[in-house]
Amino acid sequence: MRSLSLLALLFIIQEAVAFKAHDFKTCSQAGFCRRGRALSSRAKEAKSSWKSPYTLDASSINIALDQSTFTAGVKSSLYPEIKFGLELRIHDDGVVRVRMDEVGGLRKRYDEAASWALIAEPTNSRDIKWTTGKKDIRAAYGSKKDIEVVVAFEPLRISLSRNGKEQIVLNGEGLLHMEHFRNKATPTEEAAPKEGEITEGEAQVVMKADNPRAWFEGDNEDDWWEETFSSWTDSKPKGPESLSLDINFPNHGTVYGIPQHATRLALPSTTGDSPTFTDPYRLYNADVFEYIASSPVSLYGSIPLMHAHSVDSTVAIFDAVASETWIDVSHSSEKSTETHWISESGILDVFLLPGPTPEDVFRQYAKLTGSAVLPAQWSLGYHQCRWNYISSDDVRTVQKRFDEEDMPVDVFWLDIEYSADHKYFIWNDKTFPDPVDMVNDVAAIGRKMVVIVDPHLKRTSDYPVYKEASELGVLVKTKDGEGEYEGWCWSGSSSWIDFFNPQAWDWWKRIFKPYTVEGGTNAVHIWNDMNEPSVFNGPEITMPKDNVHYGGWEHRDVHNINGMLYSNLTSQAVSARSDPPMRPFVLTRAFYAGSQRFGAMWTGDNLGTWEHMAVGVKMVLANSIAGMSFAGSDVGGFFGNPETEMLVRWYQVGAFAPFFRAHAHIDTKRREPFLLDQPYKGVIRDILRLRYSLLPVWYTAFRETSVTGLPVLRPHYVVFPKDKNGFDIDDQYFIGSSGLLVKPVTEKGQTEASVYLPEDEAFRLWQVYYDYFTHHAYRGAAKGKTITVPAALDQIPLFVRGGSIVPTRERPRRASTLMKNDPFTLRVALSKAGTARGELYLDDGESYSHQQGQFIWREFISSRDLAAEKPNDAVDGVALKSFNPSNDYAKSIANVRVEKIVLVGLSSKPSSVKVEGGEELVWEYTPGVSASEKKEGTPSLLTIKDPRVLVTKDWAIVVQ
Ligand code: NOJ
Repeated sequence: MRSLSLLALLFIIQEAVAFKAHDFKTCSQAGFCRRGRALSSRAKEAKSSWKSPYTLDASSINIALDQSTFTAGVKSSLYPEIKFGLELRIHDDGVVRVRMDEVGGLRKRYDEAASWALIAEPTNSRDIKWTTGKKDIRAAYGSKKDIEVVVAFEPLRISLSRNGKEQIVLNGEGLLHMEHFRNKATPTEEAAPKEGEITEGEAQVVMKADNPRAWFEGDNEDDWWEETFSSWTDSKPKGPESLSLDINFPNHGTVYGIPQHATRLALPSTTGDSPTFTDPYRLYNADVFEYIASSPVSLYGSIPLMHAHSVDSTVAIFDAVASETWIDVSHSSEKSTETHWISESGILDVFLLPGPTPEDVFRQYAKLTGSAVLPAQWSLGYHQCRWNYISSDDVRTVQKRFDEEDMPVDVFWLDIEYSADHKYFIWNDKTFPDPVDMVNDVAAIGRKMVVIVDPHLKRTSDYPVYKEASELGVLVKTKDGEGEYEGWCWSGSSSWIDFFNPQAWDWWKRIFKPYTVEGGTNAVHIWNDMNEPSVFNGPEITMPKDNVHYGGWEHRDVHNINGMLYSNLTSQAVSARSDPPMRPFVLTRAFYAGSQRFGAMWTGDNLGTWEHMAVGVKMVLANSIAGMSFAGSDVGGFFGNPETEMLVRWYQVGAFAPFFRAHAHIDTKRREPFLLDQPYKGVIRDILRLRYSLLPVWYTAFRETSVTGLPVLRPHYVVFPKDKNGFDIDDQYFIGSSGLLVKPVTEKGQTEASVYLPEDEAFRLWQVYYDYFTHHAYRGAAKGKTITVPAALDQIPLFVRGGSIVPTRERPRRASTLMKNDPFTLRVALSKAGTARGELYLDDGESYSHQQGQFIWREFISSRDLAAEKPNDAVDGVALKSFNPSNDYAKSIANVRVEKIVLVGLSSKPSSVKVEGGEELVWEYTPGVSASEKKEGTPSLLTIKDPRVLVTKDWAIVVQ
């Protein structure tokens, strides 16, 4: 008896701490996914006899006057009476948009996903000429007419080729199927199957023989009209409306993207011979409690963007769909990838991004959905969070301790317990009696606070926010479209604002006044959590799919966009509270394509385990390449109490993530870095200081991202697209264009790390990589090379690729705002050829005045022949570095100088170092100890002390 109850207890504890798989559907538990997957297995079984029933009616082709677009009717032989309309547009940057919808159907499919994701309506190309033949319609375009789009009529097949090689193919496997709207058959009709329909007993036989409908939709009305999962029933008032489409990348063996999943960056297969995962990757924003560190399970955000990569080219697909979507990936050979996208609702709206380089793909995607916003500079500093700092005095004490220990920090965070009864915007006046004074204390040296504002509104009449929303009628409705939807979240019985309703927009902006006018300070920024939305008592911990939003759309149609609208409106509200507006900081947990325009994201509730630390790095990379550059994971792990070694390593990981925040669950022990014993406390202080010294690199990288769409963190395939060895690497990466390569240590007990030094084989050259701290020079190899480096607990494998100039600010400060007038150090890491380049972008860090030219963007060049160097002045036609030196911001930092230049790797001792036209400078030269010229070993160092040159002015230092 005793042992039995012990077992029961163990079981319950296990339940409470483990990922609750049964809370979330597998593909086989979602009717439409089950149908979609069954369709693909039937196709595979039928092999070459499988044929798509969809055909394009050539006689209906209508080419627009400007030739950029054509429309045509499409039919499926399964349902000849149903009409579909296909539209192809070619944009001015070569992106192809393919749209298909049911025409004159019983209902309308949701077609607004793209309008929320896109930054603007794309402009069509003027360089297209469609040619209609007997079997297809095609157009070749691009400066060399090397790209060709071919739309074959029967069966319908759409391909994009470059130089005659197919890059992307839609419906090549014949899995396209758009379930048309239909009426539910009455019981009498059901009883008498019509021609082409089958009775249960005959199912298998008929299906294979002469009932192709059953091939596509199964042999029964499987979850068409109502679907149950666990104790929930989805009423599915519109019936089946799913969309299946195969998208293949015939000459690309590796695919990346479709975040967010806890898995490797190069997506492992989910079907085929030996799949890594048995379920497809799922995109359905979900609050997954204690998610596991290797899984295709859907997490908090969804970006339906996939890159396909090979040594020859990079292309991408953006599928503008907002409903639950499952994606199977299979690598049938080293050279090609097949994918199958199965969505629950919505039109077909797919963008084909032709590349052909990773840079091109990033530019094309940024042109569609916008690039990551240039964040406020302070938000790149260190953020200290926990659930919860329990009082305003607690916040003050934590701040004091950071200062006493000389640990830099920019932001203190408050989780849900700051609010009265989880009524966000309303302070708990017992624990936070003086919020304005508290914030002002934090803000005294330019620090900020971030407080959480969740989307669930406590349903009580003494909560004005809920009351106003209810009176305005802007709350999400129940399935009848009338009643306010009620569910459970932190605030107990709650309702949710429907941000699809334009009436909610201005109202939401007004609501922020408590933090501004009445709250007396603009130093408070916002954290949007639980916006998947998380509903504790809802199906799969979210809203029922048959809930109704503005315009009558079901939650099913818009689910993945919902969270983005919330952070979009919040960031507008935060920015609009001051005049002139200031850059807002909004952290969001749920996201969609386009969320990069509104702020940062993090990877949610990770565990304090080594596996989670490691997969967090991969997840941040996956989010980065899908636009969400401003990304990070909870340092320390949200759940659990990390041992000291793990915590130190986690700070190293965090310091090299764009968003650097420590956070912890309410049940964890306090673990602020000042609580550690020495030497660990000192190690973390050094890591924090390292982050701050590198802020110029981070900010410059963000500026580049905001202009070009290239991610801040760059995985190997992005920087060295032709180096096959790098395609699978996702545990080391480059930071912007700085030349910094980092490999965070994410394993226990490590004292060494192996690091891959990439090279572009095409150039048949190798480059030297210098250890950032010791300057030790590692020799690369033309085909890339793996080296082993020391990685004790206080060591971070960080390298500067030869040919880079890295600007840093080395004076330790308490917060980033105090560094405004600090001088710079330039670390010049010479290439084998003795040259180097680097960049520095600066502006006031907070306002939008940079958009009016108030910034400086300098390029540093080290060359043997400066006169022959061309400044790298424009990216995408944007004059980046040609700023007006007399702009007010530049004037405000007129005295900011370079205080030190360290030249690493000079081949011999110079005889003189002078500012051009000036006097000899103070310098010191240490010869390298490496015997050969090959730069293996300790390189020479030339340290130029206080050259008295200004960052806003042009200058040259001559080393002879
Ligand atoms: C869930 C979030 O993911 C976590 O970071 C936060 O601390 C809790 N909600 C409480 O707000």
